[in-house]
Amino acid sequence: MLEIEALSVSYGKREVLSRVSLSVKEGEVLAVLGHNGAGKTTLLKSVVSLVRAESGGIHLDGTQLCNTSPRTAAEAGVRLLPSEFRGIFSSRTVLDNLKIAMPARMGRDKARQEQEIAYCLEIFPDLRQKLKQPAGSLSGGQQQMVAMAVALMGRPRVLLLDEPSIGLSPNLVQRLLDEVRRLSDSQGLAAILVEQNANVALRIADRVAALRTGTIIREAPAGQVTQEQLWDLF
Ligand SMILES: Nc1ncnc2c1ncn2[C@@H]1O[C@H](COP(=O)(O)OP(=O)(O)OP(=O)(O)O)[C@@H](O)[C@H]1O
Ligand SMILES: [Mg+2]
Repeated sequence: MLEIEALSVSYGKREVLSRVSLSVKEGEVLAVLGHNGAGKTTLLKSVVSLVRAESGGIHLDGTQLCNTSPRTAAEAGVRLLPSEFRGIFSSRTVLDNLKIAMPARMGRDKARQEQEIAYCLEIFPDLRQKLKQPAGSLSGGQQQMVAMAVALMGRPRVLLLDEPSIGLSPNLVQRLLDEVRRLSDSQGLAAILVEQNANVALRIADRVAALRTGTIIREAPAGQVTQEQLWDLF
């Protein structure tokens, strides 16, 4: 479904991703594990054209997305959940954040918009009472729910999650990731979950890839990766 082929990205003269190839299928969760500075965020940003790739390809069912725009990626159904609750407007209300996140391809149809908002509130009922509050006034956990609801508006086909465990309680991390797994199983959502916390990622991943200083050094089905092997990867 989503294919990343020989993707290379540099900041100035420094190459931070070197011919990275990865793919994720419908209904599949791929965990990408790697240390600080391995290039995890850069990888996700390049998929939605927030950073420019030097070479390589990114295809969603044959449509080229490489070096297009975040909007093109969103319209094609690829959404990024940035790390640490970024990607929401903290001075705007929760409801406004959801409205703004509605993809243009769904038009200005009010009924459709309400339907999409209702869908997000079914997933995160805690947000129901918070709709009129500025997103920035919510707790970290609630802000992460808003960020995830924003990313889910318009029902993406591919969700990219950048270290969703940072700053959240283990309970909430579990809840968010269970939701990703449920959407993968029930709606065929494909997800790339970037994490430093391997234990968190392995709980829901089908496959695991290890990224070390810009290169994929290993890929395996999640069930075949033992704790010792994980230590070896790093
Ligand atoms: N805008 C930028 N300009 C220059 N260098 C950058 C920029 N963004 C990231 N880098 C560098 O590129 C490398 C990869 O960064 P990236 O943020 O992709 O890593 P990461 O795996 O997400 O790390 P972390 O676990 O800390 O989030 C790092 O060495 C970082 O310092
Ligand atoms: Mg990062």
